[in-house]
Amino acid sequence: MKKLLLVLSLLVGLNSVALNATGTKHVSHGDVNTEFTLEQLAKYDGKNGNKAYVAVDGVVYDVTNAEYWKNGTHVPTEGKLQAGIDATEVIKKSPHGKKVLAELPVVGKLKK
Ligand code: HEM
Repeated sequence: MKKLLLVLSLLVGLNSVALNATGTKHVSHGDVNTEFTLEQLAKYDGKNGNKAYVAVDGVVYDVTNAEYWKNGTHVPTEGKLQAGIDATEVIKKSPHGKKVLAELPVVGKLKK
């Protein structure tokens, strides 16, 4: 019986590794149904240990540990783009467009 349990738990373990390896690219942490008002979003500015969140098309993304973001500032914009805002219009004008969003954890949505 013990052996059977061991084999079963090994299989479950292997399965979850496989799922992780092939799983969807879209990362999501926490409750994606969390709603943020613009006022609440503004607190996630990446400063003083705050997390850094940015909204695009009503979805709130976590850029705290994102490449090219440092303490809530999007480095290539030389300080012009800060976290804590709705950047829907800004990203339209960026060289990379929305494809970069697929790599970011989703943390919620913007309250309408
Ligand atoms: C989440 C919302 C984001 C917005 C609104 C945004 C916006 C922008 C804007 C406006 C620029 C142009 C800067 C300038 O030349 O003045 C830019 C550049 C750049 N961004 Fe973003 N960005 C976002 C996320 C990201 C992410 C997650 C990455 C990392 C993969 C990234 C990587 C870059 C890079 C490498 C550049 C330099 C130009 C290039 O090589 O494409 N951005 N971004």
